Amino acid sequence: MPLVDLDRFDFLYANRVKGMRSAATRDLMATLSRPGIISLAGGFPDTRLFGEEAFREISKNIAADSAQALQYGPTAGLEATKDVIADVMSAEGIHASQEDIFTTTGAQQGLDLVAKVFLDEGDAILCEGPTYAGALNAFAAYRPRVLHVPMDRAGIIPVAAREGLKKARKQGIHVKFIYTVPNFQNPAGVTMNGERRRELLQIAREFDLVIIEDNPYGMLRFEGEPLPSLSAIEKEEEGGVDRVVYLGTFSKIFAPGVRLGWVHAQPGILHKINVGKQGADLCSSNLAQMMITSYFQHADWRAYVKRLTSVYRERRNAMLDSLAEFMPKEVHWTHPEGGLFVWATMPSYLDATTMLPRAISRNVAYVPGEGFYAGSEGKNCMRLNFSFVEPEKIRRGIELLAEVIRDHMKLRSDLERGSQQGSRQEARRSSAVGSEG
Ligand SMILES: Cc1ncc(COP(=O)(O)O)c(C=O)c1O
Repeated sequence: MPLVDLDRFDFLYANRVKGMRSAATRDLMATLSRPGIISLAGGFPDTRLFGEEAFREISKNIAADSAQALQYGPTAGLEATKDVIADVMSAEGIHASQEDIFTTTGAQQGLDLVAKVFLDEGDAILCEGPTYAGALNAFAAYRPRVLHVPMDRAGIIPVAAREGLKKARKQGIHVKFIYTVPNFQNPAGVTMNGERRRELLQIAREFDLVIIEDNPYGMLRFEGEPLPSLSAIEKEEEGGVDRVVYLGTFSKIFAPGVRLGWVHAQPGILHKINVGKQGADLCSSNLAQMMITSYFQHADWRAYVKRLTSVYRERRNAMLDSLAEFMPKEVHWTHPEGGLFVWATMPSYLDATTMLPRAISRNVAYVPGEGFYAGSEGKNCMRLNFSFVEPEKIRRGIELLAEVIRDHMKLRSDLERGSQQGSRQEARRSSAVGSEG
């Protein structure tokens, strides 16, 4: 077979392509479908839970309107779908009007569109560190500087956000927006507490920024009380939607295969997003919108979300229990109250990327941490997904992973011991040489 020259058209590619990199999870996908691999890597909801019967029912319902399902639709989305979205948002405590809602082809398209609308090359954005790799990927095409703000167990640290913004201002860097995943964050599993939500909004006001609130996981809460979204807080404090651009999706409460999400924002922003979307794909699929509308109007979708939540809770518990049972004491991890992910941190001398082939050869996979940063941080970290794998497999996967980590820690301490012995021998030899002289 002839060798494929991937650089063949380098002289023609746009500059924006240079900053873009493929998400590690996307690259891993082929390997992960190998039989026998326990994949804690993907961000997959468990669509097996939906079932053939419910799917057939939806298909039957929309068949009567096949002409519309097969047709182009309005760029902002079908009216009935926007009603359903308003309903879902009200279940999350946000009272949205239909005209503030705009459908997208997944929240992923929402991320691309906000970047398209707000970012010029060299502008900056502020986001959590680590953050969702797919967002970094979408933003990268517009070539921004990415300023990561550290998190602790209560989410993004406001003092650090303020410091970062002050520093950027001093350097003449134009920060355009703050990007945050406030609930059960991807990848860290951390939730921003209520006080910090209000403070982040206050910071955005002080620096006159927009906040992109990306909330795919808010409804997948296993324990504790739901917290108000930044969008709801803004409405309460200001009486309307202003600087918070809220991204929602059906991917985690229904299914990612339909590729449907939405933006809820101020009308001026939505108008720009509308123009951006026309250039991208004209409109999201009518077929997908009608499937969703039919399901959310006629079926008990809240019961389905409850079912997902209870299955994921059991899997989260299996992951946390087995981490506690098997991991060396030097490894730490987060304790998510919902969502799909745990973030584990190994000793700083270990590198999750170089360790991955060994883990895969032992039949377990994860996503290395560095893909969740724009720079080179996060090397000793990894994202572990618990939503897609049954509890027994999670347990076995964590056991295997712990063995791989232990092997690498041992290798390192053997090497260190070897090099200490080496230097002692060297020292003895040179002192012997010295005494000879
Ligand atoms: C934080 C976050 N935002 C956006 C997305 C993209 O979701 P969608 O399937 O709606 O495009 C994901 C997917 O995993 C995500 O984790």
